[in-house]
Formats: sequence, structure tokens, C-alpha cells
Amino acid sequence: MYFYERFCQWLGHLKLSRVILLVSVILFVVPLFTHYYLSKYDETGTLSSNPMRHTLEALGDISTMNAADLKLRIEEMLRIKASVSTELRELEAKRGRLQREAAAASAKADSAKAEHARAAAELQRLRVSADQARIAQLEAIRRDSPELAPPLQILPSRPPPILPPIASSSEVHCRMFSCFDHSRCSLTSGFPVYLYDPDVFVPLSGAEVDGFLKTTLKQTLGYNTHITRDPNEACVYLVIVGEAFPFVKTPAPTTDTYKLLLNETAIKSLPYWGGDGRNHVLVNMARRELSVGSGDAFRGASIGRAMIAQSTFTHEQFRPGFDIVMPPALGPPGGDVWADCAPIAPARRKYLLSFQGSQPPPKGIDKDHDKSLIEALQQMVKSAPASDLFHLQFECDPPVEKRAVLPIGDWALCGTDRSRRAVLRDSTFALILAPADRNYVTTALLQARLYEALRSGAIPVILGGDRIRLPFDEVLDWRRATVSVPRARVPELHVLLRALADADLLALRRHARVLWERYLSSVQAGVDALLASLRTRLLIPARPVSPTVGAPAFNDSYSPPRLEPPAVDAEPEETLGPLEAPYPSPAYRRNFSVALLHGYEMWNDWGEPFALYPQLPWDPVVTSEARFMGSAAGFRPVGAGAGGSGREFSEALGGDRPREQFTVVILTYERETVLAAALARLRGLPYLNKVVVVWNGPSSPSSVSSWPESGAPVAVVRAPRNSLNNRFLPYHLIDTEAVLCVDDDAHLRHDEIVFAFRVWREHRDRIVGFPGRYHAWDLNFNNGFLYNSNYSCELSMVLTGAAFVHRYYLWAYWRTLPAAIRDYVDEYMNCEDIAMNFLVSHITRKPPVKVTSRWTFRCPGCPVTLSADETHFHERHKCIQFFSQVMGYTPLLTTQYRADSVLFKTRIPHDKQKCFKFI
Ligand SMILES: *[C@@H]1O[C@H](CO)[C@@H](O)[C@H](O)[C@H]1NC(C)=O
Ligand SMILES: *[C@@H]1O[C@H](CO)[C@@H](O)[C@H](O)[C@H]1NC(C)=O
Ligand SMILES: *[C@@H]1O[C@H](CO)[C@@H](O)[C@H](O)[C@H]1NC(C)=O
Ligand SMILES: *[C@@H]1O[C@H](CO)[C@@H](O)[C@H](O)[C@H]1NC(C)=O
Repeated sequence: MYFYERFCQWLGHLKLSRVILLVSVILFVVPLFTHYYLSKYDETGTLSSNPMRHTLEALGDISTMNAADLKLRIEEMLRIKASVSTELRELEAKRGRLQREAAAASAKADSAKAEHARAAAELQRLRVSADQARIAQLEAIRRDSPELAPPLQILPSRPPPILPPIASSSEVHCRMFSCFDHSRCSLTSGFPVYLYDPDVFVPLSGAEVDGFLKTTLKQTLGYNTHITRDPNEACVYLVIVGEAFPFVKTPAPTTDTYKLLLNETAIKSLPYWGGDGRNHVLVNMARRELSVGSGDAFRGASIGRAMIAQSTFTHEQFRPGFDIVMPPALGPPGGDVWADCAPIAPARRKYLLSFQGSQPPPKGIDKDHDKSLIEALQQMVKSAPASDLFHLQFECDPPVEKRAVLPIGDWALCGTDRSRRAVLRDSTFALILAPADRNYVTTALLQARLYEALRSGAIPVILGGDRIRLPFDEVLDWRRATVSVPRARVPELHVLLRALADADLLALRRHARVLWERYLSSVQAGVDALLASLRTRLLIPARPVSPTVGAPAFNDSYSPPRLEPPAVDAEPEETLGPLEAPYPSPAYRRNFSVALLHGYEMWNDWGEPFALYPQLPWDPVVTSEARFMGSAAGFRPVGAGAGGSGREFSEALGGDRPREQFTVVILTYERETVLAAALARLRGLPYLNKVVVVWNGPSSPSSVSSWPESGAPVAVVRAPRNSLNNRFLPYHLIDTEAVLCVDDDAHLRHDEIVFAFRVWREHRDRIVGFPGRYHAWDLNFNNGFLYNSNYSCELSMVLTGAAFVHRYYLWAYWRTLPAAIRDYVDEYMNCEDIAMNFLVSHITRKPPVKVTSRWTFRCPGCPVTLSADETHFHERHKCIQFFSQVMGYTPLLTTQYRADSVLFKTRIPHDKQKCFKFI
């Protein structure tokens, strides 16, 4: 029994082949031994070699034998038995020993085999890395165009010299080439702008510049990066003219009043006027008493070669490409303006079209300018079906003040800001009538109407839009935000407005809101847009955007000791790419071309014209063959261009863009062991440039404990305060375009990270990551979206606990996203990932990209209490609703698409390899 058990036990331990071997050994050896001993006994004088017969014979002989004989025989047999069992015991012991030795030897063989596999993989990786290094070296040697040193900043060193003034009759012919001194504004100058202190230089006579406006402008210009205090180096000189009113309280105005208000002597004696006012910009931002008209401060005045920026121009006066149409100062000085705005949905509102205004007859001219136009509009209302409501009001109640001196035929605003806003918020379209006087290019009142319509989400319909100009139209594409119709089309207006589809209405309204928020909403926005449009005209790149300089957690003289982490055995032995030296993404290569190629998008679409970024997600690619004809530098085509799968694929980054690496940004809150594990997991990760740890806690990381080696430089920065928004600070430590945001407890395999990185390289403007979530309509209360993390075949968010984003979005998070959203994230300590998804979808109008089949990424067994889970979800519902309210709509878009590697689940021949083994 004992033997049998041992045998079974032992069977369990051995592989079949070995069992068979051993059994055959035993079957062979044991009888052999038995035979040997028994035959030995035979030789000592017994009759038979068969033990059984032998015993029987012994029993048979019992009667014939005497007792002594028998005793002797029994003793002898006992002796034999003892000797045989001793021998058997020894044999058994020997067998056990042999068995153990065999087991040990086979274990050794297994580990040697594993070691060999590891070493082979390591060798393969080293070979790949060495190959890459060799290519990089060759590239460096071959490079025929050496790296350009940044150009010197060329600045003028003296104020403009005094030149003879130009005749006032030729002022109207001024253009950039004839009246602007480009020599003061070199391409590398950074566009310095000097502001004459409005407290010292008063260009108006008889009137003070409005105090509020003066302070506001001074302050907002102070925030602008172009303002310089040194008049010698300035490219452009700004003069705040303030608000000049083309009227005096009594008596009735004459054309002389214009001249009365602008003190030409004061302007011409400005210290850097240089005789003719070259490179001077006279800014007139009207604010007070718009209802009684204002705007044109320069009528009939002689201002030399200076440019004019204001909101009212006549055709005789306006010099296209030289003067700038800018909005009046209507909004707050700066800050968040979202609370003023109306939501974008629903597409159709109560009134199809609204208008409130009156056209006071100018003194001395007795004529109804727009009588026929008004009649046509009233006819439209009458003939429209009853379902189309209009709110058209051509007389104000109470009437506007009689002292108003409007541009002839301009339409005064009725009522108060609040009453107009109430009507506009209920209107799908807002009618804007160009002034009856065709001499006007634009008027302050018209722009005030535009401002109010955009703010309330009423799509401006500009009758006579073909002969007027809208603010900054040199750079802004107003066709995407307004409907511009010649006056002659009034009879067809109703058809046109009814024909627009809902999606178009929403697109127009959304775009209108974007333009309004960026360029018109506040005084700050208007002033920044003014300077940026001038700079764009001169093709001078914007100032570089400034990165966040984080406080390092460890000083220069100390960095924590590095520990070799234990080998991670869960890591699949797969070569995923070369281990390279850190290679930062090339930065600021497109200083001069970005405005040429993307000037439109920067002003009207995804970008923003106020800063220069080191790279953009939309930077163009070279054409396919150019990679092999002259522009090969940096490219790592798969199989050197021949393509391939398996090894060829894993050795090269491929794709349409040069090689690059990514930075891992880990936000952590005082969890050193979790962080250490996260760093250890990154060891051996290809394409990893650097790990930036954002230390969110109040205490510094302890300096005594050692940190595991992660294979790439690790930088630890202490966040200024504990905030989830810190995850998206654009730290100067980040040197790559690709940023992998991870939670410290996110478990991602290396092949998953590398695959996501490769996918991101093709979708650089989107969030590319693992955990998908979506926004689901609240069916119970029908008033907004809820956050949902259930399994679903549609998703609209990818959480930034494990996702790639472009570095540009780290800046956009702070510059484009309304501050109210970041404040909300701070208040609830939640939802920064939702905010990032809102931002990216808002900018690109595209959903995120989900990669691989992984749905969750946290450690599977981590405890989450049910109540904590419930509050978490509740907060996230609230986040979505609040963010949508701030942005005026929910920018998230859904997708049913997921990225897997190309040969995933494809049947391929045995001798071929896939792109990745497991994904
Ligand atoms: C581009 O602009 C950046 C930021 O101002 C500057 O550092 C870089 O040297 C410039 N490069 C070129 C080629 O002008
Ligand atoms: C116009 O400006 C000049 C120079 O600053 C000043 O001497 C003069 O008094 C001003 N004229 C009026 C009417 O304010
Ligand atoms: C640097 O940090 C270490 C550990 O925190 C500290 O002991 C050392 O005094 C610091 N050195 C300087 C120059 O601050
Ligand atoms: C997720 O699904 C479960 C069951 O399918 C459901 O009870 C739960 O309400 C869902 N959660 C959300 C947030 O919709």
C-alpha cells in the first residue's frame, strides 16, 4: 500500500515520458534483482529456483523431517527474508534518491530554458536598439542641412525719425506698403507694441477719456504679451483715443463738432509721432451711450500715416488692409463670460426672426430711408404661415432720445440691454439692417447689434451684408456664423431662413459663440484680437506660449537612490521596440509657416492666434514618397520601406511621421508604494522619453526611501496646491508631443501602451486611451445627460486615467476651457477627465479613440464601497450637466469604433508573425 501511494504521488510529479521510463526501469530492475538473489540461494543447495514450489516442497517434507532440521530450515529462511528485505529497503532508498536527482535536473533544465528565452529576447531587444542607434547616428552624419541656430531678435534701437508729413489728401490712399514702416517690425522682433499712457497723452479736447475705459484698456493691454515699455524698440505705437462723441449736448451738432473733439495738435505732438504718424494705431473703442450713437472720432481729421481702429467707418475714410474694424467696448473687462450666453440647443426658438429698433430722421433731411424695406419685411410677416412667429419692431417705445446723432439711416437700439436680451434669447435669427446710408462700411450700432445677437445665440441675418464689414473680417470668417443677404433679397428672406436645416442652425450658432467668446466678448478679447490681427498681417509669429515651471521635489544636490526592481514576470516576452536614448520632439519648427498654412484654422477653427506653440496636433505630414526622396530624416519605415509584420514591425515605428517618443505623466497623492510599483512597471518600456511625477500632496516625498529604476529619467514636481487640474499642467519638463496620462494605480501592459502610442500617432488631435465611458440621456427627468460606465457599444469619453493626449491640449486646458470648469473640478475633486474630453471634442468635433478590448484598468480587487461609488457617480452626473451649461452645449460625440492592431484575429500562416502577440 505504502509503495503504491508513493508511486501515485510520484506519478503526479512526473511527466508522462519520465514515468514510462521509470516504470520500465523498475519492471526491469526489480525482477532482475529478485532473480539474482533467489538463484544465489539455489546455488547454496536448494532444489528449485521457484520460491513457491520451494515452500510447498518444504511443507510436504515436514513429516519426514526431524524437528532440528526443520528449525534450521526455518531459521535459514528467516535469515534470507531479512536479507532480502534489507536489500529491498536499500533499493527503495536508492530509487528515491535517483528520483529526486532526476527532478532537480529537470527543474534546472526548465529554468535554463527560460533563462535562454529571456536572454534571447533581451538580445533581440538590444540588437533592435543598436540598429536604431546606428540609424540615428548615420542620420546625424548624413544631415546635409545643419540645425539652424535661432535667428537673432532684430529690434530697432531708436524711435522713428522725424519725416515730413504727408498731404492730408493722400492719407486716404494709405496702405501697408505706402504708409507703414516695416523696418521697425522684423520677423523675429516678437511684435513689440508701445502704449502711450492715456493719463499723460490726452488726444481729445474738451473731454476726458472715459475713466473706466481708460483703466480697463490700460489693464487689459498690460496683460498682453506684446506690450513693451521701451518706445525705442516698438514696432507699433498705440494711442487710446477713447470715446469721442460726434455730438455736443447743445446746440445742434455740425460737422465741426468732430474736429472739436479730436485734438489734432495733441496727436501730432506725440513724442514718437515722427512727423507723419507711421506705425501709430489710433484706437477708438466706444462704450458710453451707444444708444445715442458714437463711433467715428476721426471724421474730417488729418491723422497722417496712422492707422485707425474703431467701429464706425465710411467708405471714403476706410482704407482696406490698413484700418481695422473693431468692436465697441461692450463686454466686461475680461474673465469668464459664459454665464451671459444662451444655450445652443434647441435649434429653433420661439421667434423665427426678431428686430427691435428705430431709425430717427436726421435733422434737416426729411426722408424715410428704409420705408420700402420695412414694408417688404411687414409683407413677409403677413404672408408667412401662422406657425412662424416674428418679433419685428421698427419703432421704439419709449422713443430714443432726440439728441442722438446717428450715422444717417442707422438703427438705434430699443429698450434696455435686459429687454433686448430676453427677445434675442427667444429668436432663431436676429435681423441686422445695414444703415440706409450707403457711405457706411460699418457702424458702432450695427456692431452692438451683432454683439448682442451672438451673445444670445440668435443667428445674425445681415440685410445689406454685402456692403458692410464686420469686426476683424480680415482674419475672421463671418460666413460661418452669420447669414449675409443683399437688401434686394428681402422678398426671398423668409424662404431662405426656413430652408436652413437644424444641423446648420446649430453649426452657425456654435461657431458664432466660438467667435464671440474668443474675439468680442470682453474688452480683453477685443484688444488681444486687435493686436493679433495686426501681427498676423505682418506675418510675425506670436510669442511662444509659456510652460509651467514646476517646483522640483528634490533639489539639485539630491535625488533618491535607484533600485533595480524585481523582474516582472507577468510581462510577456515580446520585443515591442527599441530602447533608445531620450529624444525630445523637435519644437518650434514652424514659427513662420504655421500662420501661412493654418492661419485660417488658427483664427476660425481649432487653434488660437494668440500664442505660438512648440507643436500642434495638426502639423502636416510629408507625402509618402518624399520619405524616400530627400526628406527621410527621422523616419523609421517598417522593414526599411518594404513593410512587414512581426519582427519588422516591432523594430520600427513606421507611419507617416518621423520617430518620436512619449512622456508619462503620473499624478499621485502621497502614495509612495503605489507610485514605486507604477515606476517599476514602466521598466523596459520602449519609446518612453521621461516620467513626470506630479506630486500633489502637501508634504514632500520622503527622501530616504529609494525609488525603483524605471529605465527613463524621472522628474518629480511638487504641485502648487492639491488639485486634479494639475494633471494637465503644461510642465516645461515635457519634451514630447505625446503625453500619456496615467493614474498611479493603473495597470497597463507594455504592449498595450505601445499599441496605443502607435494609434495616437495617427490620431494626434484626439484622446486615445483605454477606459471608455459615455453620456446617456436622463430618461427620468429629461433634462440633461448622465455619466455612465456600463458596458456599451457606444462611447463618447476615454478617461485620462490611461490615455494619450497631445501636449497642445495641456495648454488649451488652461487657456481655452472656461475657468468655471476648472474651478468646479477643484471644488468637487473630481471630473478633470470629463473636462478634458469636453475640451478636445469641443475643439475637434470628433470623438475619442478607444484602443484594445480592455474596459477597466484599475487593480481588479481594489475595494470600492458602494456608497462611495454612488457619490462618485452622482458627482459625475452633475459635472456633465454643469460643463454642458458652461459651454452652452455638450460637445461630446459618440463613436462605435475601437482600434485593434491590424492582424489581430487574422488567420495567418504558421511561419508568419502578427503585429502584436496579444492585441
Ligand atoms: C521659433 O520660436 C521659438 C520661440 O520663440 C524660438 O525659440 C525658436 O528659436 C524659433 N525658431 C526659429 C527657427 O525661428
Ligand atoms: C490740444 O493739445 C495741445 C497739446 O497737448 C494743448 O496744448 C491744447 O490745449 C489742446 N487743445 C484743446 C482744445 O484741448
Ligand atoms: C537637498 O535635499 C536633501 C534631502 O531633502 C537635504 O538633505 C539637503 O540639505 C538639500 N540640499 C540643499 C542644498 O538644499
Ligand atoms: C448599469 O447597468 C446596470 C444593470 O445592467 C443597471 O442596474 C445600472 O443602473 C446601470 N448603471 C448606469 C449608471 O446606468
